[in-house]
Amino acid sequence: MNIGLIGSGGREHAICKKLYESKLVNNIFCFPGNAGTSYLATNIEVDILDFKKIYKLIKYHKIDLIIVGPEEPLVNGIADFLRKKKIKVFGPNKYAARLEGSKAFMKMICAQNKIPTAKFKICNEEKQVRLFLKSCKLPIVVKADGLAAGKGVIICKTKNQVIKNTSEIFNGKFKSSRKVVLEEFLVGEEASYFVVVDNNNYKFFGSAQDHKRVYENDKGPNTGGMGAYSPAPIVTKSLEKKIKSRIIDPTLKALKRKKKPYSGFLYAGLMIKKNEPYLIEYNIRMGDPECQVVIPRLKSDLVKIMLSTVSNKLKKTKIEWSNKKSMTIVLCSKGYPGPYKKNILIDNLNKIKLTSSSYIYHAGTYFFKNKLRSNGGRVLNFTSMGSDFKIIRKNIINYIKKLSWKKGFYRKDIGWKVINKK
Ligand code: AMP
Ligand code: GLY
Repeated sequence: MNIGLIGSGGREHAICKKLYESKLVNNIFCFPGNAGTSYLATNIEVDILDFKKIYKLIKYHKIDLIIVGPEEPLVNGIADFLRKKKIKVFGPNKYAARLEGSKAFMKMICAQNKIPTAKFKICNEEKQVRLFLKSCKLPIVVKADGLAAGKGVIICKTKNQVIKNTSEIFNGKFKSSRKVVLEEFLVGEEASYFVVVDNNNYKFFGSAQDHKRVYENDKGPNTGGMGAYSPAPIVTKSLEKKIKSRIIDPTLKALKRKKKPYSGFLYAGLMIKKNEPYLIEYNIRMGDPECQVVIPRLKSDLVKIMLSTVSNKLKKTKIEWSNKKSMTIVLCSKGYPGPYKKNILIDNLNKIKLTSSSYIYHAGTYFFKNKLRSNGGRVLNFTSMGSDFKIIRKNIINYIKKLSWKKGFYRKDIGWKVINKK
């Protein structure tokens, strides 16, 4: 069969590689993909929000299944658009995609279904903000309601910061929405928990811990993610039971009641406090870079899993995982998450000899006149598997040193929570 994959990050390269390994696949088409996926698939340059164009490409290339990697096309309704045209799509419908597309929607689902989450208030005007300030201790988390490319969450330590940031959002700083969600600040350890969902059932799809801050010791501004490891040891069997029964089950039931059942990957961003899970956010897709550590541990055929998801037969599908641990470190362009240069030459990559349990997933890369160049802030993901996180990290850092890309930087302390505990 032929498969189409929408997206261009490290997440999509990891998914693409796994698809490529399946015996069920003839051709893979990436919309638009990156330099890494071009070794495995045909990259097609297209605006991923131009659904009509994508439909034409699906028909032209006789694509049997389309997988949507990033959130934006899903929030804009690509799954509904293509399903109406009888295309098999892996990813949730537009209504369910609001779990990520609208933080106010997600919080309302929590409130209506008693899902543990930070205390909150949805605000449309300053009066409501001032009322919440009276009832909630600082710091307060200010969140833009709609998609904001990772820039919509601000942790405010003073009342003035809350007022300033909320008024900016009310005045249209983010095009997606002028609503604000104010939240109590939760203290604990963060973990990402993934499930794959069809209209009737769902199955565990890995756990991971990300590192959002740009600098070592979790300092500096937030990023899309600087590195991750899987599994997340904090997600014990007893915690997992609570995550399922208190968070995942009621959410999926609520969407079913609305006759808009979920389908695809669902990512619960959690805060764990004294072995109790609280939902910070939902994402309607795999995480990036979490996908780059979860997917390598998957032993089962990803295409089979996705096909059984779109035909609602997940219940009978076995999903098996390797016992090995995995880690990824993101090599970024200097300046990220602020302004950074693009189009920088990356030589030496072919000289790195990887073992069979290591892989380099591309993110912001492309070929220009046959030369590999950067075109994003997060450029390459160095991923490795093994039995000990400390050794895995050492191996990864050795690879990055061999590349010796002068225009790049990375965090050397990925996994500190699991490595320093020993
Ligand atoms: P998001 O952009 O929704 O992924 O949020 C970015 C990050 O902000 C999360 O990964 C958390 O580290 C932090 N965050 C969001 N909401 C809260 C909260 N209520 N309490 C503490 N930290 C939070
Ligand atoms: N790594 C966080 C995310 O994918 O949203």
